[in-house]
Amino acid sequence: GDLKNFINALPKAELHLHLEGSLEPEMMMKLATRNNIKLPYQSVDEIKDAYNFSNLQDFLDIYYQGMNVLQMEQDFYDLTFAYLEKIAKEGVVHVEVFYDPQGHTSRGVAFSTVTNGILRALDDGQEKLGVSSELIMSFLRHLSEEEAFATLEEAKPWFDGRIIGVGLDSSEMGHPPSKFERVFNAARDLDLKLVAHAGEEGPAEYVREAIELLMIDRLDHGNRTIEDADLTQELAKSGIAFTVCPLSNLKLCGVTDMKEHPLRKMMAAGLKVTVNSDDPAYFGGYMTANFMSVTEALELSKDDIAVLCRNSIEGSFLTDEEKTRHL
Ligand code: HPA
Ligand code: ZN
Repeated sequence: GDLKNFINALPKAELHLHLEGSLEPEMMMKLATRNNIKLPYQSVDEIKDAYNFSNLQDFLDIYYQGMNVLQMEQDFYDLTFAYLEKIAKEGVVHVEVFYDPQGHTSRGVAFSTVTNGILRALDDGQEKLGVSSELIMSFLRHLSEEEAFATLEEAKPWFDGRIIGVGLDSSEMGHPPSKFERVFNAARDLDLKLVAHAGEEGPAEYVREAIELLMIDRLDHGNRTIEDADLTQELAKSGIAFTVCPLSNLKLCGVTDMKEHPLRKMMAAGLKVTVNSDDPAYFGGYMTANFMSVTEALELSKDDIAVLCRNSIEGSFLTDEEKTRHL
């Protein structure tokens, strides 16, 4: 309808997307066959039936299992290019995607296999689809500081502009940002951009740690920030971008109904909010679906939607000149 066309027509950036979370059931089946991997599912419908989560960990267990089908460089290429083809149709002009190298190296797939497959698809996405992109590698916070340092070391050949930043994801509770303060200090010394998931399930205190200890450039999720009025005011003033993921929050039971989603409150508090898909193959939709869902539930205006899209360009790691071209 009219609203969907309006959303699709606005230039926007996706700033919170885990490539492994864009693995659609159909591709999971195809790659399982191609690589001779036995899946615990017999059909696409069985896979979809398994996607019922009551919290982040429920999802992560299924997500890490799903990525087992990704084995060869071509698999990472196919995964990445399929994602880019989808979002190119939704008015996404730029993406800053995450991937989880430790989810692959831990099961014997080489860092270079994963990274080169993704980068080749990102290059083709720029050339064939006109979508610009950057790549951010995330550390799995349930693993140790030492393992994160080893991953940072292994990635060094790609810090010549191919991997532009580091992030922090996986199980939040019990793994506060402070656990990775020294790793993020090392990444900052390498001139990498810094982002971290915080305040998705974890408390506002974890957001404060991500800001003050990790000194991040952008905050992933951050929904629980508004439980701390002082912190909210500080982050409104700083202008740091929040990468909010409405359908993810609903699927992982961060909100019980989209009408309860804090996005409108966050915008009203002056936070620089963006809308993103997180793990679209698992959570029921890509960018437009996320915009539609939150727009309908919270009765957002077209002006609100335009602000959210503008925020995504402004909150990206594009240069000022590149941002101006999209605004
Ligand atoms: N939260 C934390 N870790 C993740 C997520 C998420 O939403 N998606 C993939 N890894
Ligand atoms: Zn995420």
